[in-house]
Formats: sequence, C-alpha cells, structure tokens
Amino acid sequence: NRPPVLTIDGPGGAGKGTISRLAAERLGWHYLDSGALYRLLGLSAVEQNIPVDDEAALCDLALALQIRFGAGHDESVYLEEREVSRLIRSEQAGTMASKVAALPGVRAALLDRQRRFRQEPGLVADGRDMGTVVFNDAAHKIFLTASAEERAERRYKQLIAKGIDAKIGDLLADIQARDERDSQRAVAPLRPADDAVVIDTTALSIEQVIEKVMDICKV
Ligand code: C5P
Repeated sequence: NRPPVLTIDGPGGAGKGTISRLAAERLGWHYLDSGALYRLLGLSAVEQNIPVDDEAALCDLALALQIRFGAGHDESVYLEEREVSRLIRSEQAGTMASKVAALPGVRAALLDRQRRFRQEPGLVADGRDMGTVVFNDAAHKIFLTASAEERAERRYKQLIAKGIDAKIGDLLADIQARDERDSQRAVAPLRPADDAVVIDTTALSIEQVIEKVMDICKV
C-alpha cells in the first residue's frame, strides 16, 4: 500500500502552486512542483548551450541534473547547489520549460525522479500530467483552471509582487502560446484525467478553492 497522492493539474497561472502548497500544509503531506523540474531543465539547457531540439542531450541532462527543493515554507530551488528560485520563474524559463517538456524522451527521463517524491504520509503533486500519467493511480485528482485573462492578471500581480518587471499583454500572449503547446503536444498533453474533479477558479478566492480541495480529499 503506497502513500496517498493528491494530484493538482491545470494550465499555467490557474493557482496550482498556491493551492498545492496550502493543501500540502493542511494535510501535512509532501509537495512536488513538477513544473520546476521542467523549468530547471530548460534553464540548464540554455546555460549549457544545448539546443531545444537535441533530444538525446536533453535526456542525458534530465537524468544527470542535480536538484534540491527547500523544505516546508522554504520555497527555494537549487540547481547544482546554486539558488535559482527567481531565475526559473521568468516567462523565458517557462517557455523553455514547455519546449523541453514536449519531448517524449525528456518526460520519460523525469518520470522516476517525480515518483520518488511519493513518500509517507502522502504527496500533493502539482503539474500538467500528474493525474493522467505520473500518478494515474492517485486517490484524489483535481484539475484547476481559469480564463486566460484572469491567469495573465494573476501572473502579473505575482511577478510585480516579487519585484519582477512584466507587461500584461505579453503575459497573456505567453500564456496562450504555452496553453496551445501544452495541450496540443503528442505526449502527455494537458487535459483533465477522466476521474479528476474540474474546478474553475476564475471567480473564486484562494480560500474558496482550498475549501473545495479539502472537501474532495475527505471522500
Ligand atoms: O507549472 P509551470 O508553469 O511551472 O510549468 C512550466 C512548463 O513545464 C509548462 O508550461 C509545461 O510545458 C511543463 N510541464 C509539463 N508537465 C508537468 C509540469 C510542467 O509538461 N507536469
């Protein structure tokens, strides 16, 4: 009997990160930010001048990547022991991430690494294919979504709050391009698992969403 998993999938900016962290905290479970793995890989590829179409080199890199996440409230992310939390949150890193994430070999190379996060007493896994592929046997599956405009607005506020410069029009265009790439790709496209509960967060507060999520985890 393996530790329980709550999967939270959905497009970028739907609130997965915030909701997943809160849910993990309330449940006392571990948290996996799978998007960060793709972002770290994208960043590392740029730094090592590996082109996004060199699948073999990217697979090797995905297997070799040395990654560490801060524990609990510490949201730091380390690449080869270098703190890159801010660096991986840029729109450029997000775009790179979604390009390397479209390669089947890269996704396969990151599979075991993700599954190793499943430890007692449980795991909240945040991403695009947590419920459909990586943890398809999860007990609880949620698909969080919101309109593209609302997501661009949220991303904008998030970036400004972190002191990162941004333009709302650019963010909306990036979000739409990334949605398109994530949902149209051949392998593990963005879609709700058949047994996922879909929550549209466009008009909901964080508190309202987290209440719904906790209700789903009770059943
Ligand atoms: O969630 P986040 O915006 O950090 O993800 C960055 C990119 O990584 C996504 O646009 C997507 O292409 C990719 N990704 C993925 N599968 C996941 C998580 C993220 O393909 N489980």
